[in-house]
Amino acid sequence: MPEKKSSKKEQATWGGRFSAAPAELMLRFGESVSFDARLAPFDVAGSKAHAEMLAHVGIISKQECGEIVCGLDEILAEINAGKFEWKVELEDVHMNIEQALTKRVPAAAKLHTARSRNDQIATDMRLFFKDACTKISEKISRLVATILDVAEKNTETYIPGYTHLQRAQPVSVAHHLLAYVEMFMRDRARFSEVFVRANVSPLGSGAIAGTTLPIDRNFSAKKMGFVDSRGNASLTRNSMDGVSDRDSFIEFAAACAICGLHFSRMAEDLILWNSAEFGFVALPDAFTTGSSLMPQKKNPDSLELLRGKSARLHGNLSALITLVKGLPLTYNRDLQEDKIPAFDSFDTMMIALDVLRETAAGMTVRKEHCAAAVADPLLLATDVADYLVRAGVPFREAHHVVGRLVALAEQAGVPLDKLPFSEVRKVHPKLREDWVEVFNLKSAMSARERVGMPGPKQVKSQIALARRRLKQ
Ligand code: ARG
Repeated sequence: MPEKKSSKKEQATWGGRFSAAPAELMLRFGESVSFDARLAPFDVAGSKAHAEMLAHVGIISKQECGEIVCGLDEILAEINAGKFEWKVELEDVHMNIEQALTKRVPAAAKLHTARSRNDQIATDMRLFFKDACTKISEKISRLVATILDVAEKNTETYIPGYTHLQRAQPVSVAHHLLAYVEMFMRDRARFSEVFVRANVSPLGSGAIAGTTLPIDRNFSAKKMGFVDSRGNASLTRNSMDGVSDRDSFIEFAAACAICGLHFSRMAEDLILWNSAEFGFVALPDAFTTGSSLMPQKKNPDSLELLRGKSARLHGNLSALITLVKGLPLTYNRDLQEDKIPAFDSFDTMMIALDVLRETAAGMTVRKEHCAAAVADPLLLATDVADYLVRAGVPFREAHHVVGRLVALAEQAGVPLDKLPFSEVRKVHPKLREDWVEVFNLKSAMSARERVGMPGPKQVKSQIALARRRLKQ
């Protein structure tokens, strides 16, 4: 059966050279308005700046510009109020808005002068990424502030730190959480770098080779806020790159994927901590769910979903890289697919960061369980080696000596710090009766006060520093 043809009337913007309208199937396949309608505020901002520039250089009159700007404002208000009628047959956000505008303002027929949808979408998306980076950075800051609040209350709540998921050395809950603060602060910095590189105007690149008309790219760039720290317009410097570059998409998706990796690891730590085996925290009811079969269950769903959502972020990055890699310059319609993963990464980040923040804010640290786990004297075996080093024993020898002590304790079935001194002194002459003082957790921790270490004073100063960095 031949495909039904859609009405040619609605294809006003590029229909001139065609005698038949596209098949309905093609329209359904090719439309992007179902996902790019959300770009309306950016598209309108770009169109207003473009119209003002056209008036500035005398291509349209001030009067025409005024009508276009008012019409665009009206349309955006309708869109925001949910009253705008989006038409799939008009393909995308650009043609929907332009056609609605042309219906009410005759001068709108001049709006697309010296512009192509190719530089238009590139512009819209750069505006989108600038906004997205700002919004995500705010969410990250709020998350970090919450983690710091939890850390602040737990600078002396000690737990085992793990390597290979085996108990290694004691750290505080605060120190462990501050590791995530570092990651999220790097993420924040990464999003501001993505912002800076997105902050360049491609408008004026036209379809591929600019225009013969006397446009002023600096003017429209400034109107849209594509300016550097000195207020100078920043412009793309090659029209072919301007319409085909998708680096911002990839950098944005990469920043999201890396942040996703961080929140996924934090989610995994909290899932472990919440288990009966660890018992370091209890998660809030509001972010856990029960089992339909086992009445006793309280599952850490918010955290498991965070782990799961991070996979989406990685998939989106991979989709974008694959999308662009084999494309000849310049614009190819494949690029329409770039928006779906970019929007999905943004939406996923916005909700995920809130969920992690609220889960962390609502959890309780079970201090008695932490204390029981960290009481394991083996966690301070390295400190015994340090004790010997201070007595002049080479570290390699000290390491071996402590290994012997650990083996002895294991054979005797006693905790390391309960080995009788009569046995201990036989292992090495530099082991004195005061060796057991090494197992005082409080002093072991306050011996670790250099930059980046888990000593309570150091951790408190790192919390204070992070709070200052948050304000920058
Ligand atoms: N909807 C299109 C996209 O997102 C806009 C650009 C269309 N350009 C074109 N030459 N067909 O990529």
